[in-house]
Amino acid sequence: MRAAVLVDANEALRVTDVGLDRPGPKEVLVKMAAAGVCHSDWHVMQGDLPVPLPAILGHEGAGVVEEVGEEVTRVKPGDHVVLSWIPSCGHCFYCLKGRPDMCDEAFNIQLSGSLPGNVMRLHWDEGPLHHYLGTSCFAEKTVVPDTGVIPIDPAIALNKAALVGCAVTTGFGAVVHTAHVAPGDSVTVIGCGGVGLNVIQTARLAGADPIIAIDANGKKSELAKTFGATHFIDATQSDDLITPVIDLTKGIGTDFAFEVIGREETIEAAYGMVRKAGMAVIIGVAPPHMDVSFNAFSFPSQSKILTGSWYGQSVPAVDIPRILGLYQRGRLNLDDLVTQSYSLEHINDAFQALIQGTVARGVIEF
Ligand code: APR
Ligand code: ZN
Ligand code: ZN
Repeated sequence: MRAAVLVDANEALRVTDVGLDRPGPKEVLVKMAAAGVCHSDWHVMQGDLPVPLPAILGHEGAGVVEEVGEEVTRVKPGDHVVLSWIPSCGHCFYCLKGRPDMCDEAFNIQLSGSLPGNVMRLHWDEGPLHHYLGTSCFAEKTVVPDTGVIPIDPAIALNKAALVGCAVTTGFGAVVHTAHVAPGDSVTVIGCGGVGLNVIQTARLAGADPIIAIDANGKKSELAKTFGATHFIDATQSDDLITPVIDLTKGIGTDFAFEVIGREETIEAAYGMVRKAGMAVIIGVAPPHMDVSFNAFSFPSQSKILTGSWYGQSVPAVDIPRILGLYQRGRLNLDDLVTQSYSLEHINDAFQALIQGTVARGVIEF
């Protein structure tokens, strides 16, 4: 089958023929229909997020189940599924605590570049070929843990559903689960890419007002407003992002700031623009060794909450169908997220478009 392999950081993806074994007892073979091009994969391609290489990237996908292992009961061949990149184990400390987003086993899968039990189902002529986040969906087919497939209504177009595998759930959950935004709360979103636009549209759904979008690409203004932003700040116009947000929030500061890029200056700005006792939520994935600094006196004296949100703190088996239901009833917009489709052979063009910011989300369609 054809797949896009990252051999080494700072190289283009190599679209080539690879081998895929049949699924083990608790695994599922999925024929991919669509895979979104997310910035987290670009972080890996840049060497900013170390994972075992060579690997098949792609963690935002949807497709149709082709074969299931003998112990699989969650899905059957023919089911339409969204892949979850946190195939939570259900029995570690965090799963039992109701925080599957922090599942130890899912983190181990990420670090080992394999499936649960250190199993590898991928291979090619040049030696070992790693899995990535238990998904590896930049390939015509993939084998994933049964905990990593979420069955969905087959009436939903799979190129829209794919985005719920990462960008939509990450943005939605950050607003709903991490921040608990309420009607009339002011929300500021720094970074209006595929994930940030979903923070914006979920903030609108939650009744936030104003919703201030910030991006260094002026072309994101119109997109941000389509998804619900009431104001747009072009980050290239000034080094100071804090003052305009304080001005737009009656001199108080924003109730919630979401950082959706992963840069030092924007993380610090997110904390700085939040009002006393407000909340800054960091979604952007920074390189593992990057540090940020905050004024220590401000912690007690301003009592701001500074937190992160990983996969929107979601429970994928509950949240993915919930989000798709909101889409089917016109409450969430997935249609305007898919701005460009690419074949797998042109996947490197899709990453260039992501970096140039010419798309809301590019999608590989198989
Ligand atoms: N200031 C303001 N905006 C910026 C800056 C900056 N210094 N740098 C980049 N941006 C904007 C880009 O113009 C783009 O619109 O951030 C946005 C990033 O969007 P995408 O590239 O589409 O990335 P996305 O897939 O949304 O991921 C964003 O969330 O989940 C994490 O790993 C992911 O760190 C990444 C972040
Ligand atoms: Zn992602
Ligand atoms: Zn677990």
